[in-house]
Amino acid sequence: MTEQSPALDNLLTESRTFPPSEQFAGQANAKAELYATADADREQFWAEQARRLTWDTEWTQVLDWTNAPFAKWFVGGKLNVAYNCVDRHVESGHGQQVAIHWIGEPGDTRDITYAQLKDEVSKAANALTSLGVVAGDVVAIQLQMVPEAIVAMLACARIGALHSVVFGGFSPTALRARVDDAAAKVVITSDGQYRRGKAAPMKANVDEALEGAQTVEKVIVVARTGDDLEGEVPWTDGRDVWWHELVEAQPAEHTPEAFDSEHPLFILYTSGTTGRPKGILHTSGGYLTQVAYTHHTVFDHKPGEDVYWCTADIGWITGHSYIVYGPLANRVTQVVYEGTPNTPHEGRHWEIIQQHKVSIYYTAPTLIRTFMKWGADIPARYDLSSLRVLGSVGEPINPEAWIWYRDTIGAGKTPIVDTWWQTETGAIMISPLPGVTATKPGSAQRALPGISAKVVDDQGVEVPAGGGGYLVLDKPWPSMLRGVWGDDERYRETYWSRFADQGFYFAGDGAKYDADGDVWLLGRVDDVMNVSGHRISTTEVESALVSHPTVAEAAVVGATDPTTGQGIVAFVILRGSATDQGDNAVQELRNHVAKEIGPIAKPRQIMVVPELPKTRSGKIMRRLLRDVAENRAIGDVTTLADSSVMDLISSGLNSGK
Ligand code: PRX
Repeated sequence: MTEQSPALDNLLTESRTFPPSEQFAGQANAKAELYATADADREQFWAEQARRLTWDTEWTQVLDWTNAPFAKWFVGGKLNVAYNCVDRHVESGHGQQVAIHWIGEPGDTRDITYAQLKDEVSKAANALTSLGVVAGDVVAIQLQMVPEAIVAMLACARIGALHSVVFGGFSPTALRARVDDAAAKVVITSDGQYRRGKAAPMKANVDEALEGAQTVEKVIVVARTGDDLEGEVPWTDGRDVWWHELVEAQPAEHTPEAFDSEHPLFILYTSGTTGRPKGILHTSGGYLTQVAYTHHTVFDHKPGEDVYWCTADIGWITGHSYIVYGPLANRVTQVVYEGTPNTPHEGRHWEIIQQHKVSIYYTAPTLIRTFMKWGADIPARYDLSSLRVLGSVGEPINPEAWIWYRDTIGAGKTPIVDTWWQTETGAIMISPLPGVTATKPGSAQRALPGISAKVVDDQGVEVPAGGGGYLVLDKPWPSMLRGVWGDDERYRETYWSRFADQGFYFAGDGAKYDADGDVWLLGRVDDVMNVSGHRISTTEVESALVSHPTVAEAAVVGATDPTTGQGIVAFVILRGSATDQGDNAVQELRNHVAKEIGPIAKPRQIMVVPELPKTRSGKIMRRLLRDVAENRAIGDVTTLADSSVMDLISSGLNSGK
């Protein structure tokens, strides 16, 4: 187990509960009986959930787990994912319903109905086909939150191509690694993106990434910033093509082909414990079933009535599952906002909620804590009475932020769903059910109906109520990852070897049961940090640091941070020849990490030290470095090879060296 931070200790003493109101319970999509129904016959339960979708051919078997840990769900079934997210809503008479209220950062807007979305996706599907993209090919997408991002993802799904979305904040180096790993044939990006009122280049970064790339045949460029961007958009004739020229010229008719339930839908890269990101593979039928089911049940979504807003970016799994696939499969009307929460002012989210009468709002604890910092008087200026469900995802939410969220944003009455899941799980796994669960600030509480999770000790034995240990998933679920792209061994090793005897999926999170048996998540137990809900591996940042010529050795830890959950703190030993050991060196190293990985990985703090604490076998003792980073008394040093190292580090830091 990792040591608990003071914030988590505080979290574990929280004991308030908030039962649902009768009024909410009466109208809720979720019913308490669901747990028992699912337990009685899990496969039957999931078969019923799969009937939310429209299948071209019904499956013959719900689950084939004979080749575990490689699952097959809804075996023999065929469907088209994009048809399920778009066309069928038009066919059922809802073509005029707004699918997306899009809001650009500078204030421009677009409302897109399902009928329009169908045309756009069909044209984009035809466009990709015209470029030679066929089922099974990989299309990399690096785009900000513009409608074309969603259209591009659905167009891929429609023709059976896999998308690999790369977060816009990732560096050219990071993009290139992902393009190469998946052998992407096409890249979709934009000329530039608006960030805090300014236009910043995107295409130039993509060009830098693709220099010498072997697999990329075409780059499609969405015109977003146009003349606002300084300088020319770099262009490679024969390879680059404007989205509007290519897509607008296509017919709006496209017949969706039905693909196997296990046909790959997308790859999404995430950080693991080594420096190399993993391409998490998701497939079609099971994934869409679980994202649709959870979006319906956890958010209590009512098509045609609710206005939903998930503030994630499509570069992360939350954007895939809860902006694109789950909500659209459920005929959502949703807000998609391009910009940052404080552009042009700190009330932007509340202004949007007021204007569009948003009723379901799903965001991350780091943002909630930022809103708290900005002050309750800001949301108080807006009418937020349309809100009826609030969601949280990405990291443990501290009770203080939970209560603030409920009181200040939810008028003291909206249910809060604290949803635990991962890129790998594809969809929500542990969460309260609004209208059913008496919620507890800080606890994700209970595995959803149809899902099974346990907290176990080192031996894989379930801990009793009140006990802590590792979170595992002990039964396969429909939206589970189907592997790590191109690396079956890494898939087995990372997720299935820790509790191989029991056949449990090891999530990498520490957790605890309270006296009622509810689950509390305690953060990662491996070398993965969680910064503003973004997963970053310590090794990844260490590799970036040591790739700089002045760095001899580096160790990175995630230190508790009041706003971002964790902050990246690096300890570096500079090479003897590095003359500048001061602020400039540190600043340069921070920028170097941003260039290698992306600005999200920039260390909050870099400390230049003479030595690193190591065990006799040479393993860095991060626990001790965390003590330093969090200004705590330094823990047990007896297993250090040289116990005086910590004194050396502390005295160096105290003397400001
Ligand atoms: O540590 C858990 C944390 O985020 C990790 C998964 O990160 P990622 O794959 O990027 O997906 C984030 C969005 C689903 C988990 O291993 N995490 C996510 N949600 C919660 C959480 N920790 C505590 N409570 C949550 N609700």
